[in-house]
Amino acid sequence: MDDLDARPGPAPIGPRRRHDPQLDSQGNLKHFLTIDGLERPLLTEILDRAEGFLGVARQAVKKVPLCRGKIVANLFFENSTRTRTTFELAAKRLSADVLNLNISTSATAKGETLLDTLRNLEAMHVDMFVVRHAESGAAHFIAAHAAPHVSVINAGDGRHSHPTQGMLDMFTIRRHKGSIDGLVVAIVGDVLHSRVARSQISALRTLGAGEVRIIAPRTLVPAGAEDALGVRVYHDLREGVRDADVIIMLRLQRERMDGAFLPSEHEYFHLFGLTEKRLATAKPDAIVMHPGPINRGVEMDSQVADGERSVILEQVSNGLAVRMAVMSMCIGTQHLGAQQEAGHD
Ligand code: NCD
Repeated sequence: MDDLDARPGPAPIGPRRRHDPQLDSQGNLKHFLTIDGLERPLLTEILDRAEGFLGVARQAVKKVPLCRGKIVANLFFENSTRTRTTFELAAKRLSADVLNLNISTSATAKGETLLDTLRNLEAMHVDMFVVRHAESGAAHFIAAHAAPHVSVINAGDGRHSHPTQGMLDMFTIRRHKGSIDGLVVAIVGDVLHSRVARSQISALRTLGAGEVRIIAPRTLVPAGAEDALGVRVYHDLREGVRDADVIIMLRLQRERMDGAFLPSEHEYFHLFGLTEKRLATAKPDAIVMHPGPINRGVEMDSQVADGERSVILEQVSNGLAVRMAVMSMCIGTQHLGAQQEAGHD
């Protein structure tokens, strides 16, 4: 769908591609740990593949056999609703067997090390770990220590990266706008603590967005963001959303704040909360997004969250298709087209 040649995009295919620990020796996706360093054609392949999976939800039998016989273990060391359930459902729709480890009742709570837990799961012939962890770098650590046949997907590590969320957001934007090319995208709120924002910014830049803005109080902007992330920083909501095509709201991630970052939620809403009135300067067809969970009355009011520009629930549905795409690229049998033509469901 995107024009691959039109944009400057990331570095050309070269030695870096061969050394990316996320790719196998053929350049295929083996782990999905971060969007950083992945090239535009690969990101586009994820989006195109996800497009093909949207229809599975409408089939009488909501399954395809791409990961039949594979075992996926969900290792969630942090809370999750949408991400964990959509990963589970995505794996089941791909016909994989799924293990959901309840970490609080597992042996980890009895002092077993992470690597010992992994080794035991590998002894059960698990093919993929889906990992969420409060420590940045946890998924990379697991990928570096996993058995050679095992794939690892990062479902959120600390404030570092949440690549499937980033890609499902790109997928949702592309479905509404046709392409990411040239779009003005405003990300509003707690960027400092947001792994989602980092993944979105990385994907938006690689896929050719025209301008990526962040709008936040000074205390919630990462140091040196303009240069380090390639974004424009605003501290005024109305100014920041002017002529935006896409507005992405973020939750205040208090669990990652270890000091006083904000005066009060009331005051935050007063300055940075999205209302219909404050949307007035955005493009008339601008869409409003949020990775969830929403705090109504803090980052946005209900009129906007449930309004006609909101695509928040579509993001959830799209998350399934995108997670199916990524999982099947890592451990699938890779013959989607041929299988569909042969009439398999
Ligand atoms: C996000 C996360 O966990 O990073 N949520 C999600 O995955 N849907 C964002 C958040 O918790 O605010």
